[in-house]
Order: sequence, then structure tokens, then C-alpha cells
Amino acid sequence: ATMNAKPKLKIVLCSPRGFCAGVVRAIDTVERALTLYGAPVYVRHEIVHNRYVVDSLRAKGAIFVEELAEIPDDTKAPVVFSAHGVPKSVPADAQKRNFFSLDATCPLVTKVHREAAIHFKRGREILLIGHSHHPEVVGTVGQLPAGAVTLIETAEDAATFMPKNPENLAFVTQTTLSIDDTAEIVAMLKQRFPNISGPHKEDICYATTNRQLAVKKVAPVVDALIVVGAPNSSNSQRLREVAEREGCRVSVLAQRASDLDWNSFEGIKSLGITAGASAPEVIVEEIMGAFAARYDLDVETVSAAEENEFFPLPRSLRPDAA
Ligand code: F3S
Repeated sequence: ATMNAKPKLKIVLCSPRGFCAGVVRAIDTVERALTLYGAPVYVRHEIVHNRYVVDSLRAKGAIFVEELAEIPDDTKAPVVFSAHGVPKSVPADAQKRNFFSLDATCPLVTKVHREAAIHFKRGREILLIGHSHHPEVVGTVGQLPAGAVTLIETAEDAATFMPKNPENLAFVTQTTLSIDDTAEIVAMLKQRFPNISGPHKEDICYATTNRQLAVKKVAPVVDALIVVGAPNSSNSQRLREVAEREGCRVSVLAQRASDLDWNSFEGIKSLGITAGASAPEVIVEEIMGAFAARYDLDVETVSAAEENEFFPLPRSLRPDAA
């Protein structure tokens, strides 16, 4: 060993981590539209909640807007709806303005939209377990007329909610919630309203579940854990919380290696790394590289589940489309 040998650091990579099938499909939708129709391609809202992904697509000719009102009337360019889903008013508005729209809503979000619509048709009062203002929640609430859906954000909300008729209730959930918090909220609702209709457990997607399970395995055996992901990414925030609840002394969210506060890793011997469903693997590699410059790394992977989900592109973009 040389005089100034780097300190040793054990890195435990969580598996699965990073891109889910819905994110891959949403990004591919924009890229395929750019290839087929050329720039620009309009995208309503960040296609997925990740700055690196958004900047890369912008460099290829995507134009990101928050509302369709920002798109010129006479455009022939495709308009893509983000993976989080949109209220019914958005495709309706797009059709009225004769836009060629492409829906990159994750099929697992669309599934929740359908469940909510079925409950509504059966005359049920609907509870949506989720975080207010998140675009997925805005989209799910916006599937039905105003007032049809009540948002339940916390166990406290579940404990105090007063239904019009306790025998005629249903619940659906956001797909990217904490599995533990949601189990608690669902248990509370089922205890108060034994006849409530809903999914078998909740509507949390496979990717959210598996990423949280991997963090649960890794967080107890490391001194610090980094979640690669954006502050507005719900599933990334939940991963950071899971690590914290598992007793991890340092659990941080980072969008890039340059975000890391090296002081907070002082003295650690082991580090867990995961990535939210919208965070690209190149950033995990960038962060590993930044640690490799300071430490002598020993890298291991801990796996909680195998994933092989694949969601085909929107029909009009498939190679066999007319
Ligand atoms: Fe879909 Fe879950 Fe990813 S809802 S976009 S598979 S995080």
C-alpha cells in the first residue's frame, strides 16, 4: 500500500433500481416520435420526473410545456402526454385543437383510471390514496366529474373521513406510494368500512414495490444510502424515506454526482445505492465514479426481485402501424 492509499468503501447496489417499464416506454415514445416525425415534438409536463432525461430529449428536439395552451394552434407536431397520466380534459382539449396526440401514460396508471371509472359507474363514492398536487393524482381525479373523488393523504385522513354512505365506498391508490404507509391507511379504511371495494391490496406498481423491498434489505447493513432521483419524483422520495426508517444514518437524494455533500459521508465504511424509477443508470455510474476517485471500492449487489416487465409503445408508433 502506498502512503496515501484511499480508504476502503463497500458499495451495496440495490436491485432492482432505476428505470421501470413505464418510464422506458414513455421515453421511447418521445424518441420514436422524434425519429418518425422530426422535431419538434411537444411534451406536456416532464415526460418522467428526471432533469437529465428531460434535458437529453430537449437536446433532440422535444419542447416541454406544462399546459396545451402553450402549444401553437397551427402545429402539425405530435403532442405527448407524460407517464403520470392526464385528466380527461387534456385529450379532449387536444382533440378539439386537432393535435396529433400520443399518450405515454403508464399502462399501470391507466389501469387505476379504469378502476376509478368502474367504481363511479357503479355509483360508489371514491377515495384516492395519494399525494395532493402530484400529476398522477391530478390525472386520476380528473378522470371523473369534480367531487367524485376524495383524496386521502394520511392515516389521519383515513381515520376521520366521513362518507355519504359507508356501504357504498371504494378506494384506489397512486402507484408510487410507500408500501408501509399505504398498508396502514388501507387497514384503517377496511376496519372502519368493512364493505369498501378496492384492489386486492392497493394499486402500488411492481416497480415501486420492488425498489422499496431492495432498500429494506440494504439500508440496515450500510452506513449511508444514496437514492439517485429528483425531488419531485414520488417513488424516489419514498425510497429515501424507507432508508431513513430502516435506521440508515445518512439517506440522501441526488440528481447528479455534483449534488453530493462529501462532508455527510465522512467516516462511512459502507454505502447503499439505488435509483428511482425515472433515474437513468448513467447517473448511478457517475456517482460510483465520484466515489471511486476518493475510495477504494468493493462493490456488491443485493437483489430483492427479478423484473422482466415490458410495455409496448402506443399503437400508432409501433413498427407495424399503418
Ligand atoms: Fe408505471 Fe410504476 Fe413506472 S406506475 S411508470 S411502472 S413507477
